[in-house]
Amino acid sequence: MSAIDSRRFRDVLGHFPTGIVVVTASRNGRPVGMAVNSFTSVSLDPPLVLFCPARSSSTWPDIAAAGRFCVNLLRREQAWVARRFAARDIDRFDGIVWGPSPGGAPLLAGTVGWLDCRIELRMEAGDHIIVLGHVEALDVSEGAAPLLFFRGGHELPQREPGGCT
Ligand SMILES: Cc1cc2nc3c(=O)[nH]c(=O)nc-3n(C[C@H](O)[C@H](O)[C@H](O)COP(=O)(O)O)c2cc1C
Repeated sequence: MSAIDSRRFRDVLGHFPTGIVVVTASRNGRPVGMAVNSFTSVSLDPPLVLFCPARSSSTWPDIAAAGRFCVNLLRREQAWVARRFAARDIDRFDGIVWGPSPGGAPLLAGTVGWLDCRIELRMEAGDHIIVLGHVEALDVSEGAAPLLFFRGGHELPQREPGGCT
């Protein structure tokens, strides 16, 4: 049993801002994708990134079977896309404009950028899985603002209450 209360754990980690990406893959020609904020860069040489799907994720087995994935870096205006790719029991791609990435995974339109990856390693980590991807292709829209995730929302505070200015 852990000494750390799970609500406290979520609350503290919620104070650390991240971006939001949609990790996509194509399994037997069927597009799959999930919203993720556990994405980060790992290594420059070789170019490695990681994300962490929950062991309970129903999308992860499809990504694992594809053996590769595309990381779509969401733009500030795409909070609705994040909500869509976190929702259950819907067609997440309904109304979404996308085309194939060089590696064949869905590349969503209108994002900040994307990274096409081959799965290099998977490691069980508690109730999640650490998935290491080798980046094989990537691109960015210079100047586009990313969608942030902070304390359950998408805005950073303008100023610390009571803090230094
Ligand atoms: C902002 C945000 C970040 C998320 N980050 C993760 C994540 O890092 N890992 C994960 O497994 N699910 C994450 N989710 C939840 C998934 O998007 C999805 O709702 C969940 O995995 C259930 O769908 P699935 O069964 O298709 O995986 C996140 C959801 C949101 C809205």
